[in-house]
Amino acid sequence: MSEGSVRDKLLSSEIRTLHCPPGEAGSSPYAPIHVSALIPGERITFNLYLKVAQKETHDFAYPCFLKVEEVWDRQWQDLLAQKDIHRLYFLKEDLGSVISYLNNHLQLLSHQTKKVTRKLLVIFSEHLNLSIRLAFQSSGLGPAVQIAYKQVETLIEKLQNDPPAVKLVWMILYHDYNLFNHSINLCLLGTAFMVFLKKPRKECLDLGLAGLFHDIGMTHVPQELLLKGEPLTPEERTQVNHHPMLGHRLLSKHTSLTYLPHVVLRLCLEHHENADGSGYPQGLPLSRQHPLTRVIRLLDSYDSLTINRPYRSAYKPFEAIKILQETNGPRGSIYDSETLKQFILFHAPD
Ligand SMILES: [Fe+2]
Ligand SMILES: [Fe+2]
Repeated sequence: MSEGSVRDKLLSSEIRTLHCPPGEAGSSPYAPIHVSALIPGERITFNLYLKVAQKETHDFAYPCFLKVEEVWDRQWQDLLAQKDIHRLYFLKEDLGSVISYLNNHLQLLSHQTKKVTRKLLVIFSEHLNLSIRLAFQSSGLGPAVQIAYKQVETLIEKLQNDPPAVKLVWMILYHDYNLFNHSINLCLLGTAFMVFLKKPRKECLDLGLAGLFHDIGMTHVPQELLLKGEPLTPEERTQVNHHPMLGHRLLSKHTSLTYLPHVVLRLCLEHHENADGSGYPQGLPLSRQHPLTRVIRLLDSYDSLTINRPYRSAYKPFEAIKILQETNGPRGSIYDSETLKQFILFHAPD
């Protein structure tokens, strides 16, 4: 199918598109990109594909929608919006050029306005998402940490200069689970929540970076366990529960990562510790946890509840908050009540 005919067929509703199923990130040669991250009137530097359902089979295909060097016209954006399609796909082997393209777009927008807009946040999160994807897949994490560090610093600076914008974060969270989407959601929620609490820039940065790297240990847990549609056996649960230790070890062993603050490593290790001391891996009581552990613990659970998982669909935000309020461990609340109270205020519309 030529690109022209793909677009014509989409226009005449002859082809049916599909959304990205959870877990696709690992196995497919294609990765999604948000349509609003593309620059109208500019040539694209990589091929763009549409995800379509194959007629009479349960399979799907990725015909080319727009070829490298073609101009991304606003009419394509309008056509896709009409069809309620918000993502196109690129080949993962083009990841490097897609990241540079988004980098250019971010710089372009930053020069145009100092205000934090929803569009800016979408491009920011897509850029960070792809950078982390590259980082988690490569053996040397150092350069990727440097990029993430700079990106999160810039985000915090922008949010601190435009405080009402912290609430925009609720509109741009990812809804489909994969490790990258969850990590970016936690980074965005974490930095915005800390800016909302008027915390010093250093603490905002620690939490944003911990959001990005907290589950890096999951890259060493078998994919089948993460995508399993039924409850885990006790042995499988032990294997998954090992991920904070694995992540901490992974981050500590890279000497090139010494500029990743020590607090971030500690938060990665402690992000499953509960307020009543019933968490893992160390079962620390609140008094022995890092003061930011209670924040990442809460946000991690909130995002896990409000994102679609292979075994259940996402809870609505208010349902998730109710679950957080009602979840108790053997010795009391799992979540710190003061942090939960602040989070509910952060969550409430102005
Ligand atoms: Fe985790
Ligand atoms: Fe997590």
